[in-house]
Amino acid sequence: MSPSSITIDRHISPDETGDAVKLEIVRAMTAMPKMLSPKWLYDDRGSELFDQITRLVEYYPTEAERSILNEHAAEIAAITNATTVIELGSGTSDKTRTLLDAFWKNEQLELFVPFDVSDQTLVDAAEMLAERYPGLDVHAVVGDFNRHLPQIPKEGHRLVAFLGSTIGNFHVEERRAFLGALGDTLEEGEWLLLGLDLMKEVPRIIDAYHDASGVSEAFALNVINVLNREFDGNLPIDQFCHVPYWDPVEERVDSRLRVTMPMFGRFEALDLDVAFNEGEELRIEVSSKFRDEKIETELADAGFAIEQFWKADGPTEDSPPDFGVILARRV
Ligand code: AVJ
Repeated sequence: MSPSSITIDRHISPDETGDAVKLEIVRAMTAMPKMLSPKWLYDDRGSELFDQITRLVEYYPTEAERSILNEHAAEIAAITNATTVIELGSGTSDKTRTLLDAFWKNEQLELFVPFDVSDQTLVDAAEMLAERYPGLDVHAVVGDFNRHLPQIPKEGHRLVAFLGSTIGNFHVEERRAFLGALGDTLEEGEWLLLGLDLMKEVPRIIDAYHDASGVSEAFALNVINVLNREFDGNLPIDQFCHVPYWDPVEERVDSRLRVTMPMFGRFEALDLDVAFNEGEELRIEVSSKFRDEKIETELADAGFAIEQFWKADGPTEDSPPDFGVILARRV
């Protein structure tokens, strides 16, 4: 068997990042309400805290998705016969191994495309994968899936995996644009594998974002450290508290950091003074929960037909299912 080849496309250059990112933070901090992109949660410390979150008893999604993928990976490989697997927001590609193992056994897989914003994480993941699957080509893409979907490789019969309910982080209009762009990018007969958190009892959802041991709170507050470090800021982290607000209309957790007293700070690198009024909030992330009809309609609007909708059981016999994985075909 020929050795694996590794290629890396970079759509985000370090220079571009510098200027675009500064503007982004100035806008975020002067907007009303103040609102950040959730990608700022994931520096090294944030990624480590998120990893701890996935192991909390309260945070059900990770285990629920893993159980579905373990049970159905072989079926996914058999139904789709994909020769190219693309994973959006792949991170360390840890969870993907179950899926890739199944495709590898099926002996159809030729190309894996991990797609992520983090350059170093992708380089590490690509090396790990090329070693684990000798002969598999790995074509990593450093990009932002809000902007660079049209640039994903076109070779082979493709399956795009978007797992972990990362789709829940989009606002409604962003989600529509994202699914539309994905539909435009894929050819008829190609596939989408989508992991999504399902609507259920609100207290169970809130607990997942505000656990008793305080890991979720530390994860949320860490974003202040990230901003202070990246932009030479002095915002006092101890004056913020974490508020996981439940939005009953959009059916999502809307995580915010609230100041109890008026607060002033400065980001030297942005030449920006920042003021918070008493009780003012900084929005850091939304985590949407889905009902069947809602996601079915949104997928249909983007040109996808659902082939399978697997669900993981909830905690008791009477509870609604915890999590869903959808396999959909571009039609
Ligand atoms: C990885 C984005 C899906 O929204 O549930 C976990 C991130 N935030 N706890 C989610 C997260 C707070 C998580 N996603």
